[in-house]
Amino acid sequence: MSAPLYRIPGASANTAEPAQSAEAASQPAMAPVSNPHAGHTPPKTVADVLAQSQVEEVLDELDHELVGLVPIKTRIRDIAALLVIDKLRAAHGLNAQSPSLHMCFSGNPGTGKTTVALRMAEILHRLGYIRKGHLVAVTRDDLVGQYIGHTAPKTKEVLKKAMGGVLFIDEAYYLYRPENERDYGQEAIEILLQVMENQRDDLVVILAGYKDRMDTFFQSNPGMSSRIAHHLDFPDYDAGELLTIADKMLAQQQYRFGLGARQVFDDYLCRRLQQPHFANARSVRNALDRARLRQASRLFAERERTLSRDDLITIEPQDILGSRLFKPQQQEQRTA
Ligand SMILES: Nc1ncnc2c1ncn2[C@@H]1O[C@H](COP(=O)(O)OP(=O)(O)O)[C@@H](O)[C@H]1O
Ligand SMILES: [Mg+2]
Repeated sequence: MSAPLYRIPGASANTAEPAQSAEAASQPAMAPVSNPHAGHTPPKTVADVLAQSQVEEVLDELDHELVGLVPIKTRIRDIAALLVIDKLRAAHGLNAQSPSLHMCFSGNPGTGKTTVALRMAEILHRLGYIRKGHLVAVTRDDLVGQYIGHTAPKTKEVLKKAMGGVLFIDEAYYLYRPENERDYGQEAIEILLQVMENQRDDLVVILAGYKDRMDTFFQSNPGMSSRIAHHLDFPDYDAGELLTIADKMLAQQQYRFGLGARQVFDDYLCRRLQQPHFANARSVRNALDRARLRQASRLFAERERTLSRDDLITIEPQDILGSRLFKPQQQEQRTA
């Protein structure tokens, strides 16, 4: 008996539904014109594809906005190059089959996986590989039901939402629980596998999570492994990169380090790196949030003083030194 073929209704990239045309028409001027549905003179040069898709802007943004991540940035440029050449090949009638674009982003928390996935969705959209370019981020709980018969509708609902874009499955390995014989996760995996194969012209799946757990997951799920075209391994940031990330985050929020505060934050980071549950750039963001909270409390206490612009944007050393990581008692515990 053959397994049922899951096709999400109205989701094929080849159907010219009115809704899709309306969407294409409402795109801003910046939007790509290389959309396969748009009907365009076939590109002849790499420059043609780049000009039509405006994909290079996204690649440049990725370079500027994200600190470090050189291997990831290089891989993404390579993937973009592959897709651009694919467009030119298609214009010559060469191998018109849509390439498999499903990916795995492995790495520790806070290494930029979700951020890069959003950019990737934009790149794929501009190059016309997905219709909409949105990203739907889910975890096991969004796909798997608790009772018999609940999983298939749940998974299909998510797939429907993600069609035309990227489905980002965080901690994807939780879908597979071999210790539980009748786990419904397997059902979600099977539906995903079919859609990843049959509707790959309209949906890109990115699986994300810790590298070792991802590897184990692929070993037990060769079907999933064989459908992943690109594996990107996100490295941890070093202390210098984390400090630069802090500079960027503060600037974005219109704050800055006052005299000596950057040095103290560097010290903070070195301490935080030794602690459990360190989550790279996310820990930086959280630490800065707390520093802003302490800055606000400090200023709040000075009821009568006129607060200058400088007062309001400056994080002082004491706003960071208030962290529990600088409390002597904590230090003793750590060295113990
Ligand atoms: N290289 C980087 N440069 C600047 N900010 C970053 C960088 N990597 C991550 N961030 C920021 O750190 C936070 C966590 O990143 P995120 O993409 O959610 O990580 P992950 O999905 O790997 O857990 C986000 O606010 C993101 O903007
Ligand atoms: Mg994430």
